[in-house]
Amino acid sequence: MTDPVHVCRHPTVADRLAQLRAEATPRSRFRELIAEVASFLAFEALSDLETRHLTVRTPVGEAECQEIVEAPLLVPILRAGLGMVPGVQLVAPTCDVAHLGLKRDETTLAAICYLDGLPADLTGRRVVVCDPMLATGGSLIEAVRFVERRQAARVQVLSVVASQPGLQRFHAEAPGVEVWCAAVDPSLDERGYIVPGLGDAGDRLFGPPGEGLTSRVRSSRSSG
Ligand code: PRP
Ligand code: URA
Repeated sequence: MTDPVHVCRHPTVADRLAQLRAEATPRSRFRELIAEVASFLAFEALSDLETRHLTVRTPVGEAECQEIVEAPLLVPILRAGLGMVPGVQLVAPTCDVAHLGLKRDETTLAAICYLDGLPADLTGRRVVVCDPMLATGGSLIEAVRFVERRQAARVQVLSVVASQPGLQRFHAEAPGVEVWCAAVDPSLDERGYIVPGLGDAGDRLFGPPGEGLTSRVRSSRSSG
């Protein structure tokens, strides 16, 4: 059976991960690093993208070449997954992007959907879900449920840091879905943050959301 977790241990990824973890790393550099690590993970995860043969005329002859013909659907989980999109697009320029907005309830840690931008039918499609943090696993499990309900042919997950307990839960609830990440950290703290992790990825990429988003999510829950 295929190992469902692929941890990329390449030195260039390890070096970037160290910079991502460092609390002193400024937001602009953090953004670049998330995109760069995403491209390395996508490079591995998408090594079997479908191609077709073509003959290309070079200045001195003809070369037998390949071009990508598969268009996977990339699903970034808002907000932090957005930071991974440019890196994945570099590797899979033909991909489409559809957004899924999930926000963890700060008390229950359950993932609440506030935006479903996915196509209604994903039959036959490879879907790549990206979110830099797999903490309790709740958000990625919810995202996989969304795409599986729409009949995706294959689902792959790209994350940057996963927690050991979150991965265990993920594999129990989303069996067979492979995860590519740069590190697996041992634990979660009482707020459900990955330890040592890299902090709040959404805030480090985009700044704190302010009360607006959180209070909208709360009020839509309480009004059913
Ligand atoms: C963070 C992160 C993941 C989720 C991980 O998002 O980007 O989506 O938490 O936690 P989980 O594995 O326990 O579900 P958050 O809900 O804070 O939203 P944000 O990206 O908008 O800040
Ligand atoms: N979300 C984050 O951004 N970081 C964590 O460690 C956990 C959830």
